[in-house]
Amino acid sequence: MDLAQLTGDLEDLRSEAMAQAAAAPDSAALEALEIELLGKRGRLTAVLRGIGALPAEDRPRVGAVANTVREGIEAAIRHRGKSLRGGELDARLARERVDVTTPGRPIRRGSLHPSLEAMADIAAIFAQFGFVVVESPEIEDDRTNFQMLNIPPDHPARDLWDTLYVDLPGHLLRTHTSPGQIRVMQSMAPPIRVLLPGRCFRYEAVDASHGFEFFQVEGLMVDEGTTLADLKGLLDQFAHAMFGAGKRTRFRPGYYPFTEPSVAFDVECLVCGGPGCAACGRTGWLTILGAGMVHPVVLQYGGLDPERYQGFAFGMGPERISMLKHGITDLRLFMENDLRFLGQFR
Ligand code: DAH
Repeated sequence: MDLAQLTGDLEDLRSEAMAQAAAAPDSAALEALEIELLGKRGRLTAVLRGIGALPAEDRPRVGAVANTVREGIEAAIRHRGKSLRGGELDARLARERVDVTTPGRPIRRGSLHPSLEAMADIAAIFAQFGFVVVESPEIEDDRTNFQMLNIPPDHPARDLWDTLYVDLPGHLLRTHTSPGQIRVMQSMAPPIRVLLPGRCFRYEAVDASHGFEFFQVEGLMVDEGTTLADLKGLLDQFAHAMFGAGKRTRFRPGYYPFTEPSVAFDVECLVCGGPGCAACGRTGWLTILGAGMVHPVVLQYGGLDPERYQGFAFGMGPERISMLKHGITDLRLFMENDLRFLGQFR
């Protein structure tokens, strides 16, 4: 091995390497080629192994040639790498192209459940008359749900409220929101004007107009000198705000143990407007709530002196209000969670 031979080998390696680098089909092949040429066990190292056989004075020259060869190969690899990466990026951009003008996937907007929508409407109307919303418990005791509302244990009126009991003795799922009246009177001083919305439960066979679970909104006003005329005027205002100004209303005698006198409050049929149709049972009227003057015994249970204070109360079903307003004919829809139904409200 002499100097000329070794530098010749280096030149051969350089030209072969340059050609190979320029022909590398992709980045992976180029990387493999770089290792093959310049790696620790690569071909350049192999050629330089011959350097040991040269006379000492020739070695620096070979070293200098080797360095330019290495630099030349490195430059060729860098150059090819750049153009490969450019092409590959273009290919990738073309492949993964995103059409930013495609419309997005729509996000389904929520809406108020019709029971809540009705309760919000009811609360907004009564708020104009100074009624504030108060909550009372869903699990009640028998005394508050019945006895303090003037319904003793063996009273036949208990049949109006088929009751679901809980394991805790003397307790039940409230059958109506009326026990809230007792809790309010016991904790607030007159003048009282409250609205008590909430879920109620009854041991009922479910059909188009009965549920075992439904909402009620209770109203209670207590003050000195409150009369049935105040109740009538207030309910008229409510009916007109809810169902339309000018709708005729009427009081009918009713019966509830906790009010005396008791009334049913009707509004003219929203479908036929009076003559009678299937929607109103041919009467021309739709009953929207029960009401009355708070029974003196109930005021006493509430801790108030019936000689000084009088009050009225009313109770309505927001689902019924909603059914009348929107022409819904089956109460079961309210609990089925079918989005096609629920999505139609505010
Ligand atoms: N609590 C009664 C029910 O569930 C509704 C009711 C009627 C409430 C008359 C009242 C009222 O406050 O005065 O059927």
